Amino acid sequence: MITVAQYVEKTSAVFDEAELFYGHGTDNGYDEAVYLVFASLNIPFDDPTAYTREISPRDRELLDSRVEERISKRTPVAYLVGQAWFGGLRFIADARALIPRSPLAEFISGGCAPFVTAPPARILDLCCGGGCIGLFAAHQFPEAKVDLADLSDDALALAQENVALHNAAARVTTLQSDLFEALDGCYDLILSNPPYVPLDEVLDLPTEYCHEPALGLVSEDDGLAIPLKILREAPGYLTEDGVLVMEVGYSHEQLSQRLIEVPLLWLEFANGGEGVFAITRDELLRYREQFK
Ligand SMILES: C[S@@+](CC[C@H](N)C(=O)[O-])C[C@H]1O[C@@H](n2cnc3c(N)ncnc32)[C@H](O)[C@@H]1O
Repeated sequence: MITVAQYVEKTSAVFDEAELFYGHGTDNGYDEAVYLVFASLNIPFDDPTAYTREISPRDRELLDSRVEERISKRTPVAYLVGQAWFGGLRFIADARALIPRSPLAEFISGGCAPFVTAPPARILDLCCGGGCIGLFAAHQFPEAKVDLADLSDDALALAQENVALHNAAARVTTLQSDLFEALDGCYDLILSNPPYVPLDEVLDLPTEYCHEPALGLVSEDDGLAIPLKILREAPGYLTEDGVLVMEVGYSHEQLSQRLIEVPLLWLEFANGGEGVFAITRDELLRYREQFK
């Protein structure tokens, strides 16, 4: 028999040896092994007795097969265990949508300060994938009504499962929409983590990314086509004091260069991450010519 601690140590070494890519929820082999073992065996991450527990032969078989798949197919752990955490909340995760990892979690857990000064009545999570951003916002702003919008039927089906998981159907709605096309009315806050990776760069990403839907990653025009379209159209869907907060990841340099005259306010994160900016409706209107 092997204990949880021994299995985690062993797996961490095996992961490092296999030179896996970390970046879908963890950034090192040890945390990746903890994630795989604890989530597979339904052990709470904060259970202090967990490490001395012995792993049964049946559980060992399950773990061994997942470790093997993590290495041979480079499948991200979140997809192997079917769950991911965002802002401390658990979400169902599978290949229908990207794995939650946006630094927006930190921004939302801070109450979206300093941009949100009064509780928002309506929030939009545009390009919602499995819905983690909008559902976490709904959790942080219990009075708000939240729309989760995505083009992909698959992503929306997963988002709907996450709405049910969080008992949020009374306040959170899923909508199929090509960006703003099918949306109505104005939002106090629009949060968006859209696709922003240039096609040629997607092909160079580590194999782990091939398991994620390409629709969630690729954007034309050097990655900027979708972000620029959102910047163009967002003012029509924001209330007078409304704010758009958008992630563009490592495309932020391209976007800054393209929009040199626009005062995009780039957020800083204590827990890592970059490439998220905020812009008010007023500024979107003032600089609208730049987004063409
Ligand atoms: C980077 S993923 C983000 C998923 C989720 N918000 C997150 O942070 O994990 C981008 C999402 O945008 C969706 N998408 C791509 N093109 C779209 C479009 N034209 N209109 C709406 N959603 C789109 C994809 O289906 C994908 O779910």
